[in-house]
Amino acid sequence: MHVLITGGAGFIGSHLVDLHLARGDKVHVVDNLSTGSLDNLAPHLDSPGFRFSEADIVTWPELGEAVGWADRIYHLAAVVGVFRVLEHPISVMATNIAGCERLLRAVDHGGWRPQVLLASSSEVYGPRTDPFLREDMDLIIQPEAPPRWNYAISKLADEAFALSYARFKNIPVTVVRLFNTIGPRQTGRYGMVVPRFVRQAVDGVSLTVFGDGAQGRAFTDVRDTVVMLDELAGCATTSGVIVNVGSDNELSMNELARRVIDRAGSSSRIEHIPYDIAYGQEYVDIPHRCPDLTRLHELIASRPRWTLDTTLDDLIARTRHREGSS
Ligand SMILES: NC(=O)c1ccc[n+]([C@@H]2O[C@H](COP(=O)([O-])OP(=O)(O)OC[C@H]3O[C@@H](n4cnc5c(N)ncnc54)[C@H](O)[C@@H]3O)[C@@H](O)[C@H]2O)c1
Repeated sequence: MHVLITGGAGFIGSHLVDLHLARGDKVHVVDNLSTGSLDNLAPHLDSPGFRFSEADIVTWPELGEAVGWADRIYHLAAVVGVFRVLEHPISVMATNIAGCERLLRAVDHGGWRPQVLLASSSEVYGPRTDPFLREDMDLIIQPEAPPRWNYAISKLADEAFALSYARFKNIPVTVVRLFNTIGPRQTGRYGMVVPRFVRQAVDGVSLTVFGDGAQGRAFTDVRDTVVMLDELAGCATTSGVIVNVGSDNELSMNELARRVIDRAGSSSRIEHIPYDIAYGQEYVDIPHRCPDLTRLHELIASRPRWTLDTTLDDLIARTRHREGSS
């Protein structure tokens, strides 16, 4: 199979590269390396089945050719991470919407119908307070939405493009609403909580919990996520379907911080930082972010193999090993 991965030098994308190359597929990655890194692809850079193009998805001249070559496309290229979204609210909209539209238009023009999987986000549920978020729920967009919601709005626009191309142009697009994904190669630089907590626990400094720490999130290991994405992309009944992908084991950020300290055997303490200090402006957080997984489980057989504890142990060991080897 020929697989095109936009944003494939990033956290999730690079794990998809691993999965497909291990299976003997040919993989082409396009990435502008804005948050991704060639280090994530290092083992594959000289592999005969692998090709990398450093380019912006919005302007890449070879997009049509790459799309025509692919049997499957994962569209992951996007401006992501709370810090980047707050710093670059305009490029979030421009890149995420224009990139997705350009990609789907190229697929349509090519005439060939590869499987397309579009990475959306649980952020589209907005400030809903339901304990479990279901794909068929109404979504909330706040009036005079602050820039914090530009990411969600951009992903919602992408979803609408995807569903329209599926319905009116017969392109088999599956939309996945990814919930918090964690694992190796994720960086804490752009606001992701688990790599930051692990780093702080290993360093023996305070774990910085933003807000009061009561907010709940549910985490999935990226190595499980990519198996589910692969299964969804190859599933004949997912065209034009939106699917939550994640875990429904929610815990609060205070519990997460305690768990990381415990697994690391660390002497770190927990320090609460108000949102306006953490994010430099007024920030609205969401009390819960937990998926209803009924649809996912109806569509695919894969179930996660990693638990939160096994992932944390692995991340802690990797962080210590990097220290030991430097
Ligand atoms: N990690 C999560 O928990 C999570 C949750 C919800 C949704 N998602 C979505 O999954 C996808 C992958 O996220 P990730 O966590 O791997 O983030 P990431 O930042 O590691 O990956 C995004 C990749 O896209 C690349 N990129 C950004 N703009 C680009 C452009 N204009 N042209 C080409 N490449 C570009 C970046 O360099 C990076 O490699 C994103 O679409 C994100 O919105 C992730």
